[in-house]
Amino acid sequence: MSDDNFIRFFKPQIGIEEISEVVDCLKSGWLTTAGRTKKFEEDFAKYTGFSHAVALNSCTAALHLALEAVGLQEGELVIVPSMTFAATAEVVRYFNATPVLVDCNEDDFCMNMTQAEEIIEKIQAGKPVKGVPEKHGKIRAIIPVHYGGQVADVLKARELCDKYGMYMIEDCAHCCPAFFKDKKGQWIMAGKSADIACYSFYANKTITTGEGGMATTDNQEWADRMRVMALHGISKDAWKRFSKAGSWYYEIVAPGFKYNLTDVASAIGIHQLKKADLFMDERKKVAEKLTKGLHGIPGIVLPFEKKDRKHAWHLYEIRIVASETGITRDLFIDKMKDAEIGCSVHYIPLHMHPYYKEKYGFVKEDFPISGMLASEIMSLPIYPGLTDEEIHRICEAVKKIVKEAKKA
Ligand SMILES: Cc1ncc(COP(=O)(O)O)c(C=O)c1O
Repeated sequence: MSDDNFIRFFKPQIGIEEISEVVDCLKSGWLTTAGRTKKFEEDFAKYTGFSHAVALNSCTAALHLALEAVGLQEGELVIVPSMTFAATAEVVRYFNATPVLVDCNEDDFCMNMTQAEEIIEKIQAGKPVKGVPEKHGKIRAIIPVHYGGQVADVLKARELCDKYGMYMIEDCAHCCPAFFKDKKGQWIMAGKSADIACYSFYANKTITTGEGGMATTDNQEWADRMRVMALHGISKDAWKRFSKAGSWYYEIVAPGFKYNLTDVASAIGIHQLKKADLFMDERKKVAEKLTKGLHGIPGIVLPFEKKDRKHAWHLYEIRIVASETGITRDLFIDKMKDAEIGCSVHYIPLHMHPYYKEKYGFVKEDFPISGMLASEIMSLPIYPGLTDEEIHRICEAVKKIVKEAKKA
């Protein structure tokens, strides 16, 4: 079969608007952070309803700067889900602080907030918690992740923050946008419960700039600090220093980082953002078609949208229950590959990676739900533009693999 037949795991939707804007940007001569990034920030702040949006070159950078802004110190603790990508926890390690892992729920794969509270209570009471050093500082923050685009229990997380004096940094890498219902039954955008919310515009995300990220907040001081630290810790608006209005003079106020987003990337982002709602609708339609096509296959557990959530459908994660399907997830992925369908796994839980195993002595069973899901989950292709024919091929391939496994 030719490459044309291969169904890619993800495919960015880049239109003529993005292409023209990038060309205009290149012609303008302003390639790095300048006016287009400022516009992207303003548009993003308006879209999410935050006073400040700081454009960065990744969500990892946003998470790092968010923790720096809320004052994370060496030896302190940050509550993080075990079922997430490397970035959510590695940023805590940048400070030589400790990510305190919490298992996920079996239904939505988001952080189990009941367990989070139990762990926080134990830490407060001075009781031992695996992975937490005997001598440690305060619990500075909690980072809920909205797994695959389904919003985590942010109301409970906020309650915990208020009760225990923690900051809430939302890892919104999977949801631009997604929504949840508040206690009054009103739809709220994911990220709005946070002190600082962090978004990703990596190539497979709901909107993309190739690589990119954003940190949003209503706190002026934190926004200013993130801007300074994103550009070597040099004085505010350093990016303006080459413009007519700028000045050559700059001062280094802290040893910062190099995390600014380029105008070339922002040129893409400005137009992707305009399509965010449309993309969300299209992803939902693809998810519904996949669910219709895959419904009722024994041993295949499908994702779902909770009643009080509007899912971003960044991921369509299914579970392969080997005892019922007669085939393991690993073999299943190989067979999907043979059928020319790109799939992935989100995620191998953090506690099962060599670094975290060696550093904190974790074993699979320490976080039994994510430990169990680790060998069952796989992500099918989902994106706007996935055709009905491709969706049909994906569903038929899944059915065929299960049917053949049953016969064997
Ligand atoms: C949950 C989560 N957080 C953070 C990130 C990091 O995003 P970025 O690649 O923009 O740094 C990712 C990336 O996939 C992610 O899945």
